[in-house]
Amino acid sequence: MVPKISTLSGYIHEYQKSVANPTGFWANIADSFYWRKKWDTILKWNFNDPEIEWFKGGRLNITENIFERNLFQHGEQKALIWEPNDPSESIIELTYEELFSEVKSFANVLRNHAVKKGDRVAIYLPMVPELVIAMLACARIGAIHSVVFAGFSANALSERINDAQAKILITADGGFRGNKIINLKETADEALLNSPSIRSNIVVKRTNQKIEWNTKRDFWWHTEMDKVMDEASAEIMDAEDPLFILYTSGSTGKPKGVVHSTAGYMVYAAYTFKNVFQYSSNDIYFCAADIGWITGHSYIVYGPLLEGATTVMFEGIPNFPNPSRYWDIINKHQVNQFYSSPTALRSLIAEGQQWIKDVKMPSLRVLGTVGEPINEEAWHWYHDHVGKNKCPIVDTWWQTETGGIMISPIAGVIPTKPAFACLPLPGIQPVIVDAEGNKLCGNSVEGNLCLQFPWPGIARTIWNDHPRYVKSYFSKYQGLYFTGDGVRRDEDGYYRILGRMDDVINVAGHRLGTAEIENAINEHPLVVESAVVGYPHEIKGQGVFAFVVSNDIPMNAIEELKNSIKKGVSKMISPIARPDFILFVDGLPKTRSGKIMRRILKNIVEHKSDFGDITTLTNPEIVDHLLQIYNSMEK
Ligand code: PRX
Repeated sequence: MVPKISTLSGYIHEYQKSVANPTGFWANIADSFYWRKKWDTILKWNFNDPEIEWFKGGRLNITENIFERNLFQHGEQKALIWEPNDPSESIIELTYEELFSEVKSFANVLRNHAVKKGDRVAIYLPMVPELVIAMLACARIGAIHSVVFAGFSANALSERINDAQAKILITADGGFRGNKIINLKETADEALLNSPSIRSNIVVKRTNQKIEWNTKRDFWWHTEMDKVMDEASAEIMDAEDPLFILYTSGSTGKPKGVVHSTAGYMVYAAYTFKNVFQYSSNDIYFCAADIGWITGHSYIVYGPLLEGATTVMFEGIPNFPNPSRYWDIINKHQVNQFYSSPTALRSLIAEGQQWIKDVKMPSLRVLGTVGEPINEEAWHWYHDHVGKNKCPIVDTWWQTETGGIMISPIAGVIPTKPAFACLPLPGIQPVIVDAEGNKLCGNSVEGNLCLQFPWPGIARTIWNDHPRYVKSYFSKYQGLYFTGDGVRRDEDGYYRILGRMDDVINVAGHRLGTAEIENAINEHPLVVESAVVGYPHEIKGQGVFAFVVSNDIPMNAIEELKNSIKKGVSKMISPIARPDFILFVDGLPKTRSGKIMRRILKNIVEHKSDFGDITTLTNPEIVDHLLQIYNSMEK
């Protein structure tokens, strides 16, 4: 098991050690894993011509580190507790032995479908145990999983499958979400019309609804599982072999397939899980994220299972059947660590105090939050009402690309401040730079958040597009990884994340590229052009605001056009990207080179009156027009 820091002086000591001798520091942690062959070189890196390799020459399989390494101590222990959407349905509990047996069986199913080391497997499943089993089965045989969030549309699924050239899709007949049923198979069928690389589609029976069936391509999960044995050897991988691809949004249109490596990701996910949440043997840990995003990968699946933890997986939503659902789950399973998001907390605050005020949750020890800046009100509510003033909050800042938590308190070890991610974890070297890339030293500074030294969990590339990896993260500031976030380091050296500095918005913790939404809007035949910005939203953190130029729309057709644009975005991307507001305008503010000046649009929706220098616009008169229309719209 990886070492655990338990005191503030221990943190300071480890941090200093990790900066003075990063390779020695990480090699010591990596030593606690099971390697078929130890590495030859701990680290080779270059941020100028980016290439990063950790533990090169090492050979291992991550599932041997989850199962074979843990079975002796934890075989009988629960690995996974699955809580269904409807609380009257039975829970599912799998011990390490049982989960292992399922993983090996499904590994054989994949092998029966000719999936080999290095092949890509797309997984489009709701939050059911088969999702974890499928991911680990891929890892067992060295296939690269690409989990696609079950809220994505057919178009988005197809785009991801095609980019990765996935061979197999794993989906379900449907999924439950509150009182809704999601027609996953129908969406997958539509996606597969445009995804010829998929040879087999393996379907989990979850909702038992009527579905179309293609006898050449579709296979039931359960019938495939009946055909196989539950013994499957592990494919032994190179440390740097990809473990998975996870698509995320960037500031240009197409989603990026972020690639994580086997060994570095493993070491980093396990170390950060154990330390940030202060996990101890026999604790019950509950992360309420969706496995379709990185939080679920690192802190429902890999981090906890590598450390022999019991991880709770929840199929449903926080307010079904009522807004005390999380608290019921915490008490039902005696949860010790709970990890959630600011949007979920704000939606529960809005439901009223009656759902929390008399609830006691004596088992809780640590509370976590992730995905977006947490406002102070939500932080205090979490602390006072959920944690009853006795649980430290870990406000964890990180990204899909970082693989694991980067800046965060270590629970009970690092004193917290409301709405601050606090201090970097050992091994993490943040720097703040101004717009020209000058490092801002000392405290009480604000600027762009960069990292100046690699950590084992850093993404290695963008699938099929290394130049985009270089451009997205390493080109803005020479020799630094740029996160895209703004940050303030206060007088105590504590970090407060200020949000994205690029054209990415964060809606309910979902990362969306404004260009991606604009492309979907522009597909509409009546749209000339559009610009999307985020605006402050009480529950979701940010909402989607679209300025749209469209010619000659009759007044009585405006609502209809708005609805059809919104529908188009849901269909092209997902309902999560649907604009909250659409404003039809005569034009957009543009520079002489034709670039849309988003800063002006942002300032309008954030009600900031200072527009700075607008003389560089080709159409400065548009600003007054935009303001006038904006001020007269119904909000
Ligand atoms: O802007 C930051 C915000 O989420 C972005 C990363 O999004 P994604 O790759 O989808 O990963 C989300 C889960 C790790 C970051 O660039 N973000 C994440 N955590 C925080 C945060 N903003 C403020 N505070 C956080 N704790």
